[in-house]
Amino acid sequence: MKATNLFDLSGAVALVTGASSGLGRHFAKVLAANGAKVALAARRADRLAVLAGEIASDGGTAIAVACDVTDKDSVTAAFDAVEAQIGPVTLLVNNAGIAHGGSALDLEAETWRSVMATNLDAVFALSQEAARRMVAAETGGAIVNIASIAGFGVDKGIAAYATSKAGVVQLTKALALEWARHGIRVNAIAPGWFSTEINTDYLASPAGEALLKGNPMRRFGEEGDLDGALLLLASAAGAYITGTTLTVDGGHLLGMS
Ligand SMILES: NC(=O)c1ccc[n+]([C@@H]2O[C@H](COP(=O)([O-])OP(=O)(O)OC[C@H]3O[C@@H](n4cnc5c(N)ncnc54)[C@H](OP(=O)(O)O)[C@@H]3O)[C@@H](O)[C@H]2O)c1
Repeated sequence: MKATNLFDLSGAVALVTGASSGLGRHFAKVLAANGAKVALAARRADRLAVLAGEIASDGGTAIAVACDVTDKDSVTAAFDAVEAQIGPVTLLVNNAGIAHGGSALDLEAETWRSVMATNLDAVFALSQEAARRMVAAETGGAIVNIASIAGFGVDKGIAAYATSKAGVVQLTKALALEWARHGIRVNAIAPGWFSTEINTDYLASPAGEALLKGNPMRRFGEEGDLDGALLLLASAAGAYITGTTLTVDGGHLLGMS
């Protein structure tokens, strides 16, 4: 089969969380460019509206849906809005995430909870909401969770973040096992370091320079580096792939503890 057909997403209705910046913004554009109708979800609705306009002027279809992934009612309302406007979700990209800094000795319980709520609880809540609807509509579908190499290897100062991402890796396997019989594939991507709003300051600091030296390719990820993994897991090209987490990090994890 031709690659363009293999990765074609025509007919897919994608919901991308955290589409207001960074990786999610880019993922939404890539999915739309490959034929999916895309719902852009995040709290900053103004940014989503701008992105929806950009996708439309590139010939794609996108709608903006204000959503706080940690709020159950907001999530249900978002799925309802997407369904009413562009159809039932068949592809969910759980990308919304937050980071934190500071040693584990100083980590406040509130920070821990908020990282878990956004990075792990919400991934389960949105996956469950999507899967219940896919099962009821008998459409099947695909879920792509954005984990991190911090879900496999650790560094100092990221205890809550690393734990939440390890949870995403394990959750991906557990949901894949249960939902395969419904035609729902669940996979994850574990990106290495990419410069976005979540870490710009950190990557530009001396600690970031040290991090760069730890990357075998001596570079951070660049726009486009995740496209292949995303399209593989989202499309028919990945029809027999479920429960896996694909590391895309220039080999960074190889040198992590
Ligand atoms: N950049 C990296 O090096 C890297 C590496 C590995 C994994 N990741 C993962 O990739 C994902 C995207 O990160 P990024 O680097 O693109 O960071 P980013 O630019 O800071 O984007 C984070 C996105 O998450 C959204 N978000 C946060 N809390 C939310 C909430 N409660 N409800 C809805 N949306 C929420 C934000 O939108 P609003 O603020 O508008 O709601 C924003 O669009 C995260 O899961 C991150 O952990 C990033």
